[in-house]
Amino acid sequence: MKRVAILISGGGSNMVSLAQSMTSGHPARPCLVLSNVPGAGGLAKAADLGIKTAVVDHKLYGADRAAFESALTAALEAAEPDIIALAGFMRILTPGFISRWQGRMLNIHPSLLPKYKGLNTHARAIEAGDTEAGCSVHEVTAELDGGPILGQARVAIAQNDSADSLAARILPLEHTLYPAVLKRFAEGSKDTVLLP
Ligand code: GAR
Repeated sequence: MKRVAILISGGGSNMVSLAQSMTSGHPARPCLVLSNVPGAGGLAKAADLGIKTAVVDHKLYGADRAAFESALTAALEAAEPDIIALAGFMRILTPGFISRWQGRMLNIHPSLLPKYKGLNTHARAIEAGDTEAGCSVHEVTAELDGGPILGQARVAIAQNDSADSLAARILPLEHTLYPAVLKRFAEGSKDTVLLP
């Protein structure tokens, strides 16, 4: 059975869908939910699901990214994960940290990568006049939001969409896409999952 550590910073809705997907015939189980934000809503949800939780508060390390990432590595290593799933984890990770887990770390990003790496993805898609938007799951490499794409789900952008209305339509797709990609990845496949 593969062990999955899930990293969050906020509400953790993607974490919940990943955790709930890892049952019965699934080849993986959650071993840890870790947040860099002490009060993150997802921590209580993970505890309710009976998953071990940990906090590594980036604010305690100020500008010392290396010290933050050492603490992160220590917390992760204690949980012995085979796979790390970033799920709304809003800290940029350095190449040194990423290389420790490369090939075993996934991320979900709310755009049709390679478009709109970084923040404010939905507003940027609308601003650009795009006719579709969506979300992507990719392998994490040293390039921000730039690793190999493992799955995508898309929706049409409506004339009257705002960034919020688009985000609200894409989030449920994230909840379907990420578990589908994680399952395939845990089974050893890197074939792309395309939804719908
Ligand atoms: C999700 O929309 C996720 O795609 C996004 O943050 C949200 C987290 O929601 N991630 C990023 O923007 C990563 N750069 P959640 O905490 O409810 O899963």
